[in-house]
Amino acid sequence: MLSSISNAEVSIVIPTYNESENIKGILHLIKEHLPKNTNVEAIVVDDNSPDGTGKIAEAYFESLKEKTRYTINVINRKTKEGLSAAILNGIQQAKGKIIVVMDSDFSHPPQLIPKLVDALRQSKTDIVVASRYLNGGSIQGWSLKRKIISRIATIIAKKGLGVKESDPMSGFFAFNKDIIKGINFDAIGYKFLLEMIVKVKGASIKEIPYTFSDRQNGKSKLGTKTILEYIHAVWNLYRYGKKNQRNEKRTSVRFVSKAARFFSVGASGLGVNYLTSVLLTTNLDMWYLHATILGIAFSITSNFFLNKYWTFEDRDFATKRTIIQFGKFSAFSSIGALVQLGIVYYLVDEIGLSYPSSLLLAVTTAAFSNFVLNKKWTFKEKLWS
Ligand code: GDD
Ligand code: MN
Repeated sequence: MLSSISNAEVSIVIPTYNESENIKGILHLIKEHLPKNTNVEAIVVDDNSPDGTGKIAEAYFESLKEKTRYTINVINRKTKEGLSAAILNGIQQAKGKIIVVMDSDFSHPPQLIPKLVDALRQSKTDIVVASRYLNGGSIQGWSLKRKIISRIATIIAKKGLGVKESDPMSGFFAFNKDIIKGINFDAIGYKFLLEMIVKVKGASIKEIPYTFSDRQNGKSKLGTKTILEYIHAVWNLYRYGKKNQRNEKRTSVRFVSKAARFFSVGASGLGVNYLTSVLLTTNLDMWYLHATILGIAFSITSNFFLNKYWTFEDRDFATKRTIIQFGKFSAFSSIGALVQLGIVYYLVDEIGLSYPSSLLLAVTTAAFSNFVLNKKWTFKEKLWS
């Protein structure tokens, strides 16, 4: 580290790897667009770039005459550990209460920094995202392939992780440092912001549109590895979300959520049943009664495993335990079918209800009693839990 004004209010974290052609220029442009009356510290987090990026940044700071309102600190890391890890490192060293994160290759316009900082200061906003996908935002200079990859990654984050923001993949954002207290970051791959959005509970997030322009100098470091890391990161975040759901304290919510899973599995079983029977008769010329029996057996089996793993979250697949559970589950399924038959018969013949309504009532009753029986006896849970 070169110097430390201890009163920096805004820390700008700039990860770099082999950015010798860009670093000086970007540090200079940032200096030209500092937020008004604010002490700013730029933190260059360099992973020991072979092209000497770190040294260039240090030399540039030495050359500055006026060093009171703008300092530059360089963190020299020994090895290349990836973008998110570098960002996290920079944040940990930051002195400002407000953190801005941006790339060093001019893709993120420093002109926007004062706006990001203002937005954080003026409202009760915790995170401000510079967005390419908001109205008014855009991307310049990217190949169609890169655009598609970015869009797909964004859709995965939105659908898979329930993220609401238009550009959770952005590498340009600002936030109040306080909000990440106590959070453990995996910091895998590129997507630091995404991890922050998922893990910081109840943050108010604002987005500001901007135009991302592809770099003029040097190469992007995003490759296949980055994409695999992205999938890994999303998977981790997905499991993180699930774990928190499991910690849901309200019994009613847990009960209803399990019942809903149980019924979805039941519905999927109908599909499995139908498809197996049809495939066996049409493709393998099997006798239709045999095919129907096998269809039922298949769907009971798939229902069992889905309910064990997903509905009741039982991940213990020891052979004996699993076989006993499977026996009970099949027995209850058969009983359920008989109960259903009995109810339909009673409602239609004795009460005189129409067949469709009777069937609906019968299916619902059978499914619910099945759920209760399996919850209590097959998977040994308390009924109300
Ligand atoms: N310290 C460090 N270590 N820095 C790295 C590393 C690393 O392993 N990998 C990349 N960087 C730095 C680059 O030097 C650059 O300043 C910045 O991180 C972004 O890297 P690029 O390789 O230029 O990424 P990109 O342009 O393809 O993608 C950027 O824009 C996307 C859209 O906003 C990134 O910011 C993505 O996170 C972002 O989604
Ligand atoms: Mn770039």
